[in-house]
Amino acid sequence: MGCFGCGKRSSKRSETTNVDKKYNDTVKNRKTIGGTTSDKRDDQTQPCSAVDSTKVSPYRDVNNEGVVVVKEKEDQLALDVKGLNLNDQAAATTTGKKAQTFTFKELASATGNFRSDCFLGEGGFGKVFKGTLEKPDQVLSVAIKQLDRNGAQGIREFVVEVLTLSLADHPNLVKLIGFCAEGDQRLLVYEYMPLGSLEDHLHDLPSGKKPLDWNTRMKIAAGAARGLEYLHDRMKPPVIYRDLKCSNILLGEDYQPKLSDFGLAKVGPSGDKTHVSTRVMGTYGYCAPDYAMTGQLTFKSDIYSFGVVLLELITGRKAIDNTKARKDQNLVGWARPLFKDRRNFSKMVDPLLQGQYPVRGLYQALAISAMCVQEQPSMRPVVSDVVLALNFLASSKYDPNSPSSSRRRNGSFRRDDEEKRPDLAKETESDGSS
Ligand SMILES: Nc1ncnc2c1ncn2[C@@H]1O[C@H](COP(=O)(O)OP(=O)(O)OP(=O)(O)O)[C@@H](O)[C@H]1O
Ligand SMILES: [Mg+2]
Repeated sequence: MGCFGCGKRSSKRSETTNVDKKYNDTVKNRKTIGGTTSDKRDDQTQPCSAVDSTKVSPYRDVNNEGVVVVKEKEDQLALDVKGLNLNDQAAATTTGKKAQTFTFKELASATGNFRSDCFLGEGGFGKVFKGTLEKPDQVLSVAIKQLDRNGAQGIREFVVEVLTLSLADHPNLVKLIGFCAEGDQRLLVYEYMPLGSLEDHLHDLPSGKKPLDWNTRMKIAAGAARGLEYLHDRMKPPVIYRDLKCSNILLGEDYQPKLSDFGLAKVGPSGDKTHVSTRVMGTYGYCAPDYAMTGQLTFKSDIYSFGVVLLELITGRKAIDNTKARKDQNLVGWARPLFKDRRNFSKMVDPLLQGQYPVRGLYQALAISAMCVQEQPSMRPVVSDVVLALNFLASSKYDPNSPSSSRRRNGSFRRDDEEKRPDLAKETESDGSS
């Protein structure tokens, strides 16, 4: 649930066991913009007066005997919703029967009391632990995210996450199993995604870890696009995700991608409206320039972020990389001039692919990303077109052993293959910014 306003976190640990190294690595500098950790994180459209009040635990009540009691778990989520002025219908749905409620004790015991060897990672919301829920007939692996009460994110993100995921049901969205809203504790319980996040497979690979191959990258891109299509086109009301990035694409068995972290999600514009005005939130490098400058959020803001993710998949470069020369630090800034000349395209591809990609597929994938990251939101495609194109790309399996692939790896591909390439330079000419 990273967003502008999530300040840098630094690890306070000094030991250097493997678990702690992972901890230290994941609590890395997050490039987020829009303020400091002390900023209020509510949007202009949804005034939120009670965000910080949970720290003094408004959920306690005194019974007839003068004993402080903790209210029913469902009531506490409803109170969160009320305090945030979210609409009652949504609140009713939330406390509906989809997500289970857990006690803090149940979740503590599922994670061995949040043991460090169950630690999976940490984001703006707090730490994430692997847990095991024992049911009468099965043992279920889950990921448990615990709100850091001193952290940058809060009750708003918690409630929006529960609301959105309670309403959603799609194979490319992570499933919310339940939550705990006991006292001032806020925890979210998700299905466990065994392969972690896309970021773990794309950037800073530990030595010996195999990079993703071309087919898997296209499969991930297509699945993530389908998840986004569900949010934009099939949810009622439609939802703008606002936090699409590699660390929020989680991977299940066989690299099945699922979008996660809906704390920043917003209901899309309705009626004649073209946008929703919000305080700017999101993550550096992924945020559409039009949204960053005006605060006007549209479905096309998500399309821009998707284009950045697709570029990361193709190039293996990070959305923002401070280790590069200043002019190349922003991935889109680096890519735009290169989009103009087809002779650059083979230089853009991730060197870790070692030439194992289809030339035509590369050009098509670059064309899609170039269209998504156009400066003008109206020039960006709608998500259904992105899905169509990526489903096609993902279903055209690349075989590294085919004769044309080996010809190219030997450096003799140019004439034959180049003629079949789509004219990407032409397609991107309309992007005045490049
Ligand atoms: N359902 C899950 N299954 C397995 N691992 C998970 C799950 N959810 C999160 N993780 C792990 O925990 C890490 C932290 O996730 P989290 O969403 O809190 O932060 P983030 O996405 O890295 O940053 P941000 O706060 O900016 O979204 C992820 O990178 C992932 O490795
Ligand atoms: Mg995340």
